[in-house]
Amino acid sequence: MINSHTEVILALDVENRSKAESILEKTGEQLRWVKIGLQTYLRDGPEFLRDVASMGKFIFLDLKLHDIPNTMAKAMESLAQLPIKMLTIHATAGPEALRKCVLTAKDILPEVQLLSVTVLTSMNQDNLNSIGIQSLVPDQVDRLAKLSIDSGVTGIVSSPLELVRLRPILPHNTTFVTPGIRPKGSSKGDQKRVMTPREAAEKGANYLVIGRPILASDDPRGSLSLIQEELS
Ligand code: C5P
Repeated sequence: MINSHTEVILALDVENRSKAESILEKTGEQLRWVKIGLQTYLRDGPEFLRDVASMGKFIFLDLKLHDIPNTMAKAMESLAQLPIKMLTIHATAGPEALRKCVLTAKDILPEVQLLSVTVLTSMNQDNLNSIGIQSLVPDQVDRLAKLSIDSGVTGIVSSPLELVRLRPILPHNTTFVTPGIRPKGSSKGDQKRVMTPREAAEKGANYLVIGRPILASDDPRGSLSLIQEELS
C-alpha cells in the first residue's frame, strides 16, 4: 500500500547560491523540504540555512558526520542555533558515537531527527573488502542499520533496494529517507538502481530525496507537482 504521507525532499546540489535561490523561487511553496549537503553548506554557510528556513522550508542538513564520539557531539553543539530538522551521521562511527549523538541531539537539538548512513552506495563489494570488511554489502547495510536503531537513532538513509530489505526487519516507526528516485521517463544520470516515487512510497519510504529530475527540469515546479501527484 502506498504511504500517503511520503514527502519529497529536494536535494539542492547546485554550483552556486544564486542557482539555489532561483530553484527555490521556481518551486515555490509547494516544496517543503530541502536537503543541503557539504557542497552548499561549506560554500554558503549557516547564513544560507537561515535564509532557506525563513522561506518556510524544512532543512535536512546532510553533513554525514563521522569522527570520535566527543568530536561528533561537539560538532552537533555547533549546529545548535541552526534551523535544521534532519542531520546525517555515519553508522560506521560505531555504537558509542551513535549513542552520544542521540543524547546530544535530545539535549541540544530536540527538533532534529538523526539519520544514519550505512554503506555509501558508491561502495561496491571490492571497495568494502579493500577497507578490510569481508561481509557482503547487504549484510553490512543490515548490521549498521540495526546498530543504528539499537543505539537510538530513529532514521535511516537507504537506497530503494535496501529499503525493501530493511523495512521488514526494523521497527515499524523507523523513518526511511530514500534517494535514488526517478519518475518514469526521467534520466537516471549516475543512479543505477532506481525506483519511481510511487514504487518507493509503496515500499514504505517516508521521504524521497530527489535532485536532478527537478533541478534539471525546464519546469521545476511542474516536475515537482507531477511527483507529488504520483504520491497522493
Ligand atoms: O540528483 P539525484 O536525484 O540523483 O540526487 C540524489 C541526492 O541523494 C544527492 O544529493 C545524492 O548525493 C544523495 N544520495 C544518493 N545516494 C545515497 C545517499 C545520498 O544519491 N546513497
